[in-house]
Amino acid sequence: MVSSLLPWVLASFYFLPSFGKLYQNPSELVKTTYDYIVVGAGAGGAVVAARLSEDPRISVLLVEAGISNEAVPPVAIPLMGLSLTPNTMLDWNYTTTPQPGLNNRAIAYPRGRVLGGSTSVNYMVYMRGSSDDFDRYASVTGDSGWKWDNMQQYARKNEKLVAPGDQHDTTGEFNPSLHGTSGAISVSLGGNPTPVDSRVIATTQELASEFPFNSDMVGGDVLGIGWAFASIGNGTRSSSAVGYLAPAAGRPNLDIVINAQATKLEVTGKVGNVPSFRRVLVTEKAGAAVRALTAKNEIVLSAGTFGTPALLQLSGIGDRTELREAGVATVVHNPSVGKNMSDHALLPNVWNVNNSDTYDSVLRNPDEFNTSLAQWTKDKTGPLGSHITNNLGWLRLPKTASIFKTTPDPSAGPKSSHYEMIFVNMRVNPNTPAPSTGNFMSVVLALISPTSRGSIKITSSNPFAKPLINPNLVATDFDIFTLVEAVKAAKRFVAAKAWNGYIKDAVGGLETTNTDKEIEAYVRENTNTIWHAVGTAMMSAKGASYGVVDPDLKVKGVDGLRVVDGSVLPFVPNAHTEGPIYLIAERGADLIKKDFRPRA
Ligand SMILES: Cc1cc2nc3c(=O)[nH]c(=O)nc-3n(C[C@H](O)[C@H](O)[C@H](O)COP(=O)(O)OP(=O)(O)OC[C@H]3O[C@@H](n4cnc5c(N)ncnc54)[C@H](O)[C@@H]3O)c2cc1C
Ligand SMILES: *[C@@H]1O[C@H](CO)[C@@H](O)[C@H](O)[C@H]1NC(C)=O
Ligand SMILES: *[C@@H]1O[C@H](CO)[C@@H](O)[C@H](O)[C@H]1NC(C)=O
Ligand SMILES: *[C@@H]1O[C@H](CO)[C@@H](O)[C@H](O)[C@H]1NC(C)=O
Ligand SMILES: *[C@@H]1O[C@H](CO)[C@@H](O)[C@H](O)[C@H]1NC(C)=O
Ligand SMILES: *[C@@H]1O[C@H](CO)[C@@H](O)[C@H](O)[C@H]1NC(C)=O
Repeated sequence: MVSSLLPWVLASFYFLPSFGKLYQNPSELVKTTYDYIVVGAGAGGAVVAARLSEDPRISVLLVEAGISNEAVPPVAIPLMGLSLTPNTMLDWNYTTTPQPGLNNRAIAYPRGRVLGGSTSVNYMVYMRGSSDDFDRYASVTGDSGWKWDNMQQYARKNEKLVAPGDQHDTTGEFNPSLHGTSGAISVSLGGNPTPVDSRVIATTQELASEFPFNSDMVGGDVLGIGWAFASIGNGTRSSSAVGYLAPAAGRPNLDIVINAQATKLEVTGKVGNVPSFRRVLVTEKAGAAVRALTAKNEIVLSAGTFGTPALLQLSGIGDRTELREAGVATVVHNPSVGKNMSDHALLPNVWNVNNSDTYDSVLRNPDEFNTSLAQWTKDKTGPLGSHITNNLGWLRLPKTASIFKTTPDPSAGPKSSHYEMIFVNMRVNPNTPAPSTGNFMSVVLALISPTSRGSIKITSSNPFAKPLINPNLVATDFDIFTLVEAVKAAKRFVAAKAWNGYIKDAVGGLETTNTDKEIEAYVRENTNTIWHAVGTAMMSAKGASYGVVDPDLKVKGVDGLRVVDGSVLPFVPNAHTEGPIYLIAERGADLIKKDFRPRA
């Protein structure tokens, strides 16, 4: 049912567009030269385009392959996020290579192809990461500017804390002093209480030593279980298109073009021995006219963890052998392009519950859906105005875990986790369609400190051919060990008295897992991804023997090119990734602005 909701709601809504001037395809563009050209309008690119164009001296073109977020009204309706991917008009429709750690299953890997990028199709869980994450980014890159303390100014520019959609009393659910109130993205606590919430919180009291309450996870220490924030304001999705682009779209120095896919960067000259890449080829689709666009200052790649390395490779920046196999001439040999991908594996765990008030019914039953849609349309409340989780938690393996005899602790530090628990008032399982009856609760697990690393590479010089995407999920002893332990922890969690009379039985294979071996088989058969891949154009220290960008986000070994998106993060953070990427992009935009000099 869920994805069949999309075309239906699509036909029944109209919004007033907030984008005055929006070029509908590259052939409409009047100018072909700008100070900066930003490729990709997702979490990274929207921030860069909006912040650079605050300076009226700077001209900016933002190039987006996808359509407008406003062409698809369900994008705005939070719970309908579940229906926006995979394999829709808003998606790049990627599939991974067969994953050896997952019994060789190939899985869908959605990425938003729309203004706002993946922030227009994601599930809107909003966090910042741990202080350890950013302190580690600073230490591996040798740039103290990436430290947590320094990054808090950017968190404030990003976050605008607003009341939840249902205006409930949020006392005790968070610490106001840690939050931004005047940033670009509206952020709120859950706007629709569920029967799961109070039981989760009661469990943190009952089993406090293993599952302590965390009064607010944005403060740098993510450990424990607490209330979840979402990038939702007034019961409506606050994507980077809504929070950054719409307010900037009227500026005379910012042009935005949609249905415009960048296919190649071209060398425009040399600075010493270093090639300059200041021209980008853009087209609407295979076979359509190609426009060559020039940046006087820089091209900023914000095409995401898959799009950015693919575009670098198509342009001759990558591993020489891989490029030769794809039929692309090497301009800059860099074997790190497309490597070191780290991702959060996701494992759904589902129980039958003794309660009919779950989201399963809303998304399954046309009458209930209609009633909820009418409620949302009226005042943006109810199930559709909410996202999928009101509570989540970040947990560590015990210090004595046997895996630490063979694997050094890969977590970012003592305030960081090995795995996450997400509590959901419905069945969540990307592997199989929802059953037609039943009410469920899910404890979705995510592996937060994986030691597996994946990769992406093009196999052809044709920019419309799909790259090979291999997140390489659950490929190491540490990763399988941690997920097996996490399943046991989830079982201990729901065995608390707080769930008596609520939880009935485990389903989906979980019911037959007793031994570690059985749990391992269950993990390999049911794990998927929570879509947080990063690292494929990773930052490293200036002069390091590996890495794709310097700590100032300039591409190593070339002139005129930066990367500002999730691909630069050298390790996947203790967060759902939009928040940390927003922070990186806010600082990235600052670094670019500081370097700005008018050029002829
Ligand atoms: C289904 C799903 C659920 C998620 N849930 C959450 C969540 O709840 N919370 C959270 O924090 N994170 C979530 N994420 C992850 C988060 O949305 C991403 O990590 C984040 O948006 C990535 O930002 P980015 O700027 O790197 O890339 P994106 O936001 O993906 O933006 C890249 C943009 O570049 C465009 N592009 C790519 N190639 C080209 C090209 N060649 N030419 C022109 N344009 C191009 C794309 O169309 C896209 O608009 C989810 C992701 C998915 C897919
Ligand atoms: C993804 O699949 C949908 C549904 O088939 C289609 O409409 C869309 O054009 C596809 N997107 C791409 C980038 O191929
Ligand atoms: C919410 O809606 C109200 C009334 O429409 C508006 O005044 C307010 O600015 C909105 N807030 C956000 C965060 O969008
Ligand atoms: C991947 O990252 C590690 C550091 O975390 C580095 O040592 C290694 O060289 C990188 N690999 C590539 C191919 O860049
Ligand atoms: C739901 O609402 C739509 C539009 O208002 C209507 O066409 C449809 O028949 C309704 N479906 C049900 C099951 O009530
Ligand atoms: C189901 O919930 C109801 C109402 O809360 C309760 O009275 C009943 O005992 C529960 N049933 C079971 C089997 O736990």
